[in-house]
Amino acid sequence: MQSQCIWTPFKVLTPLSFKPSSTFFTFSFSKQLLLPSKSIAAVSSARRAISSYPSLMASSPAGKDVVSTQNNSNQKTQQPLQHVAKRLEKFKTTIFTQMSSLAIKHGAINLGQGFPNFDGPEFVKEAAIQAIKDGKNQYARGYGVPDLSSAIAERFKKDTGLVVDPEKEITVTSGCTEAIAATMLGLINPGDEVILFAPFYDSYEATLSMAGAKIKCITLRPPDFSVPIDELKSAITQDTRAVLINTPHNPTGKMFTREELSTIASLCIENDVLVFTDEVYDKLAFEMDHISMASLPGMYERTVTLNSLGKTFSLTGWKIGWAIAPLHLTWGVRQAHSFLTFATSTPMQWAAAVALRAPESYYVELKRDYMAKKEILVEGLKAVGFKIFPSSGTYFVVVDHTPFGLENDVAFCEYLIKEVGVVAIPTSVFYLNPEDGKNLVRFTFCKDEGTLRAAVDRMKEKLKRK
Ligand SMILES: Cc1ncc(COP(=O)(O)O)c(C=O)c1O
Repeated sequence: MQSQCIWTPFKVLTPLSFKPSSTFFTFSFSKQLLLPSKSIAAVSSARRAISSYPSLMASSPAGKDVVSTQNNSNQKTQQPLQHVAKRLEKFKTTIFTQMSSLAIKHGAINLGQGFPNFDGPEFVKEAAIQAIKDGKNQYARGYGVPDLSSAIAERFKKDTGLVVDPEKEITVTSGCTEAIAATMLGLINPGDEVILFAPFYDSYEATLSMAGAKIKCITLRPPDFSVPIDELKSAITQDTRAVLINTPHNPTGKMFTREELSTIASLCIENDVLVFTDEVYDKLAFEMDHISMASLPGMYERTVTLNSLGKTFSLTGWKIGWAIAPLHLTWGVRQAHSFLTFATSTPMQWAAAVALRAPESYYVELKRDYMAKKEILVEGLKAVGFKIFPSSGTYFVVVDHTPFGLENDVAFCEYLIKEVGVVAIPTSVFYLNPEDGKNLVRFTFCKDEGTLRAAVDRMKEKLKRK
């Protein structure tokens, strides 16, 4: 039970025991110390701590930190610009945005944020151009262009054997990010418990917070990041509404095994719990076959499968995603989607339908290319002296940075950018309790081979074990 933590709306804003050596990294330290749910007595002091802690809003997305106002004597004063609803107060500029701007500032090679530095396939881009020329430019049907819904259903049948009704069980969204938000907002009531596995993709915590959920978090630990089944069993209560999984898993590259999925499935059936499963990296499964939770016996009825086009087709900027769920769950997802975005880019949806009907050879080639990239990065990182944790899927690899003597992941990433010229992502940002990630950093290999080799060369030259 040691790694299980319960999120409550009242958290103490406290710097962690490790400290950033630069203001660049305020993000990580905006994570709060968890307040045990029973420590109600501590709530008032927690609130005091919140109000007395210096502003952590290092920079707003627009780069405007202050606003001018006039006081009684008609003099202009500078006030911090901090207009944000309480439910989002603790979420600052994402680490990915921060790292990408730092990469530019320091001319560092960006192996941080997971977007390819190469383009998507010509046949998909051509399909988008054609759709625009054909006048497919007005609002699409709210829950998806019919042809795309059919293409998603066809792909899902090929991948899982499940036959779904494209009209009633598929909702097209603006990327998986919106599918995640629509699922949380459409299916979770304030106070519902949702179980997450840390480390986790950052939008889960933010959207659950918007939905008013109570987050219970179970930590997956190195070296294999396997699911601690006993902890999961004791975390499920009668208030548990859903378990959220992500396989293949960002940031670790872990793929949930059939055994793990079956155990989670039995627990969810036994306790009448839903599963939300983020499978955006399903086509980047290298060491084993990807298994969709929905395909397990008895699970389709209680599962929302979330996916998108971005990773599989190297078109992360298109933001075409979807949620597949039985009718009774699709209803909630669609209600939220209707009022979040209503509909998603029409021509890109037409092109996405073409993409999803790509021949199997496309997927084979994609995997082959990524395996070659992975080999370059993993072998390179080993030669540099990192301890590598095996990654079975995704385009990420997590390493232990401690051989290089920096005090934590944030300090290491800062050093890596400034002194070595390479960007990685500190993993503490993927945890409710950032201490859990302090020894780990994440590199991505969704870059061309020249870039990967150049990054490895820089590290070989400048990074020395202590
Ligand atoms: C696990 C996971 N889920 C969802 C997303 C977001 O997907 P999209 O770009 O389709 O919104 C990402 C992007 O990095 C991710 O890593």
